[in-house]
Amino acid sequence: MATKSLKVNGKRVSITIDDPEMPLLYALRDNLALKGPRFGCGLAQCGACTVHVDGKAVRSCVTPLSSIRAGQKVVTLEGLGTPHKPHPLQKAFIEEQAVQCGYCINGMIMESAAFLASNKKPTEVQIKQALANNLCRCGTHARIIRAVKRAANA
Ligand code: FES
Ligand code: FES
Repeated sequence: MATKSLKVNGKRVSITIDDPEMPLLYALRDNLALKGPRFGCGLAQCGACTVHVDGKAVRSCVTPLSSIRAGQKVVTLEGLGTPHKPHPLQKAFIEEQAVQCGYCINGMIMESAAFLASNKKPTEVQIKQALANNLCRCGTHARIIRAVKRAANA
């Protein structure tokens, strides 16, 4: 057993773990009950588990806890906005009704948020490129792209 200190969604937290190499995703979902990030493939292929580490989109299913330093800022979908004050992307996804089953949406929003932070007025092609490695089995891509465009113009 070991203790790991993390900064998640602006709060300092401490968790007890057996394996320091366990994926960050497991710590977020199982230890901290943050269910925004999803387990999809577990192989860095679908994007459902995406979170931000120091503002960069990372796939938490293949990010070992040991690689996260205590000072690094981890942000999950829950830390992006609140029901009363949603992030522009969260608002835009609702307004465009860009969700079917919703399983991929954590990854779509977290990847898009990191992308828009560095590219405030992207073209449609750039948005498609940014989300090219995020999979949606429901085929909601057209609405997802519209939602990202709406958020960029907000
Ligand atoms: S669950 Fe992490 S990329 Fe699919
Ligand atoms: S909305 Fe179902 S996987 Fe994307």
